[in-house]
Amino acid sequence: MGCMTLSARKTDIDAVKLLDHALANGICFFDTAEMYPTPIRESTYGSSEELIGKWLRKKGGRSEITLATKASGPAAFVPWIRSGKSRHNRANLISAVESSLKRLQTDYIDIFQLHWPDRATNFFNVRGFKVPKKDLTFDIEDTLDVLMELVASGKIRSFGICNETAWGAMTFIKNMEKRNSNDTLAIQNPYNLLNRSLEVGLSEIIAREDITFFAHSPLASGILTGKYFNGSALASSRLNQNHHGDVFKSPALLKAAEKYVTIAKNHGIDPTQMAIAWLLSQPVVTSVIIGVTNRSQLTHNLNSCDVTLTREIIKDIDRIQQEIPNPCP
Ligand SMILES: NC(=O)c1ccc[n+]([C@@H]2O[C@H](COP(=O)([O-])OP(=O)(O)OC[C@H]3O[C@@H](n4cnc5c(N)ncnc54)[C@H](OP(=O)(O)O)[C@@H]3O)[C@@H](O)[C@H]2O)c1
Repeated sequence: MGCMTLSARKTDIDAVKLLDHALANGICFFDTAEMYPTPIRESTYGSSEELIGKWLRKKGGRSEITLATKASGPAAFVPWIRSGKSRHNRANLISAVESSLKRLQTDYIDIFQLHWPDRATNFFNVRGFKVPKKDLTFDIEDTLDVLMELVASGKIRSFGICNETAWGAMTFIKNMEKRNSNDTLAIQNPYNLLNRSLEVGLSEIIAREDITFFAHSPLASGILTGKYFNGSALASSRLNQNHHGDVFKSPALLKAAEKYVTIAKNHGIDPTQMAIAWLLSQPVVTSVIIGVTNRSQLTHNLNSCDVTLTREIIKDIDRIQQEIPNPCP
């Protein structure tokens, strides 16, 4: 199968069993980050990578696995990661790779990604672009040189950018061409029924520049499952824990999410599987990164691969997007 990615965000023995189960069921691509698990805390920094590292060691060998991780950028919400000022420069990227390799107990990372841009731009729920009065110092050419050197050294096999804008993606592509690079670039951005902003600019870049694209947050943190509307969400479910502040409380977002859940029900399919199947049917999507907290969610989500969306369902979905465009930026 291999059409999805499992993210590792649990930190206990159940997570190791979940990883075994995912692998046994055809998942071969695992995505993590130095700052995971979520919710992001100083006390758990690096734990997801450590867990994967222990799992890899126990299993022995990792040739059948594609492993992706990410280096954080600068952000006030992670003051413990290189003082919250982690520009994507030589010192920071080399230190991030070395530390991830240690935690992952491996000698190479298949896809090393920049978790977010190190310049002032719109990502992580920021809708519009504001011309910065005073920009952060950033240097994409320097970043690229280090990433290419890391590939040449064998410590990483390829690299990617996350939560990027069309300008950022094209600047990486242009500078890779300038260097006659044969490296492949991956992009990992949010893409789901409530956030199709990718289609405004990045989709064309991904298609025309032949980019590997990973869609993250396929269920918009779980709201597209419908469980928050029918009362079946547990107190421990992510949105009941309020990890995202007010982002998922917007009336437009709730209205749109409920409408997608209703479309699924009207067509006799499961809302979660409709949301994932819709992503799998998008030609720009290379892989859908699913996040699960237990085995039954994993099995349920994997079964989305067997769901085919009819033209009528797609039409209904597109009608809601026209009515309430991208309520979850
Ligand atoms: N690059 C980035 O900046 C970035 C950002 C976000 C995510 N990602 C990547 O993408 C992965 C997935 O993102 P995500 O976890 O936000 O994905 P998501 O699909 O939007 O949300 C996943 C959450 O929904 C709930 N869920 C999943 N399947 C379910 C089911 N069948 N029934 C009921 N609830 C279900 C689970 O939470 P509860 O059980 O708690 O409800 C699960 O943790 C991350 O782990 C990460 O690897 C990357």
